[in-house]
Amino acid sequence: MTNELFPSVIEFSLQHGDCIAGMKQLAEDTIDVVVTSPPYNLGIDYSTYKDNKPHSEYLNWCLEWAKGIARVLKSDGSFFLNLGNASSEPFFAFEVATQMGQVFTLQNTIHWIKSISIDRDEGTNSFGHFKPINSERYLNDCHEYIFHFTLEGKTKLNRLAVGVPYQDKSNIARWSHTEGKDKRCRGNTWFIPYKTINHRATDRPHPATFPTELAAKCIRLHGKKNAVVMDPFLGIGHTAMAAKECPDLVSKVIGFDIDEEYLKVASEILGCAYKPLK
Ligand SMILES: C[S@@+](CC[C@H](N)C(=O)[O-])C[C@H]1O[C@@H](n2cnc3c(N)ncnc32)[C@H](O)[C@@H]1O
Repeated sequence: MTNELFPSVIEFSLQHGDCIAGMKQLAEDTIDVVVTSPPYNLGIDYSTYKDNKPHSEYLNWCLEWAKGIARVLKSDGSFFLNLGNASSEPFFAFEVATQMGQVFTLQNTIHWIKSISIDRDEGTNSFGHFKPINSERYLNDCHEYIFHFTLEGKTKLNRLAVGVPYQDKSNIARWSHTEGKDKRCRGNTWFIPYKTINHRATDRPHPATFPTELAAKCIRLHGKKNAVVMDPFLGIGHTAMAAKECPDLVSKVIGFDIDEEYLKVASEILGCAYKPLK
């Protein structure tokens, strides 16, 4: 039986292989939510993938997998694309987003804040982690983007599923749309720090991950029940772990990675098998 108290068991389909080939094997119009982050073409030392394509080849490749996502995404689906810039490549994220714009509508742009310093009368408090940049030109880079693409720009979201309480409680009575509830839309700045780890090789054995919470927020914001969630660039599986944290919303997770080592880690953490792409 499946209901609110007894959510369905999530089915995991983790496949080792190229996501473009993998997505071709999926039926069109079947995926509710895509949360993903591709390689950024910055020469990151992945264990299999070579992260240094010529620039135009890289952008053409992005368009190819974007078309694959567009084919399988439902008309009311959501595609959350995490992208960051290198300081020396300040237009990177926008160039990839512009490629996506050939097949998708950009419905929301979310800023993933990894670290922030807040000045108060009592002093300054800093939160979160970032990789410091030793530079006279560039600031430390403490944020990335989460572009929310949809096919028609009309996908309804559950904003309050990732909402926050009102700071000023008098707003609850002031605005009729609150219906008396102490919840408002969080907005498009999401502070999500990386978890502190002691040993990268064992605790987070992948060079470019996003936190589980990032994907969980995307799934909750999309908000549809029985969702089929896909991550074409699964890495060590943070999107799948996020789905596991949302058993009331997710029925199936499909993930691809070209690197068997990463899928092995994901399948161990998730307690499910992975298989080679047919
Ligand atoms: C930025 S990482 C994703 C990390 C993931 N979000 C996580 O938190 O673990 C990009 C991943 O894409 C994989 N990859 C590169 N080309 C691929 C392809 N054609 N098909 C599937 N996966 C690919 C790489 O092996 C790498 O693990």
